Amino acid sequence: MSKLKIAVLVSGSGSNLQSIIDACACGSLEAVVRIVISDQKEAFGLERARKNGIRAEFVDVKSFSGREDHEKACAALIDSEGCGLVCFAGYMRLVTGWFVRKYPGKIMNIHPALLPAFPGAHAHRDALRYGAKVSGCTVHFIDEQMDSGPIILQSAVKVLEGDTEETLGKRVLEQEHLAYPQAIKLFLEGRLEILGRKVRVK
Ligand code: GAR
Repeated sequence: MSKLKIAVLVSGSGSNLQSIIDACACGSLEAVVRIVISDQKEAFGLERARKNGIRAEFVDVKSFSGREDHEKACAALIDSEGCGLVCFAGYMRLVTGWFVRKYPGKIMNIHPALLPAFPGAHAHRDALRYGAKVSGCTVHFIDEQMDSGPIILQSAVKVLEGDTEETLGKRVLEQEHLAYPQAIKLFLEGRLEILGRKVRVK
């Protein structure tokens, strides 16, 4: 069976990207990361890609007249590598319906909270301010809204007395690094069926 080719989109550190690269390298995922794309020139995720011999591309939003044009440039790169799955890993951009429709059921995202609680860029701060006793992470398919779309899997993490954004974030990130490869494994085994808002794991 040929390996699933994955495109990973990042805006920052890329530790989730690393967990995917590692899962491919150790053979627990029958997949290969073919390209890493970032909207941030200095994203460490691009550096991680280069260190692992993976094609790394910065696609500057400012070079395009609109979001869709930027996405078309990203899609051309994704398609040039024949990727069958697109993983957002700390990619801090909303995509348009055009991009969502281009890869139906083939774009995943990870978010550091138990969605639909605490979407957005400050999930840990929001969870702590709210007084949540449990947080965690969610891997989901993408739709046009932020941190929305059918949920593939979630992993819960207890909020501890005295937790800060950093301490909670660190424990959640450990779960993210397990959850994302797990979700990809379910995808490549053909075990994910999207039924409206729900994902059935076969
Ligand atoms: C991760 O915690 C990811 O869940 C989050 O950004 C971080 C990226 O870390 N994504 C979101 O908040 C999406 N709304 P990484 O670059 O080290 O993988």
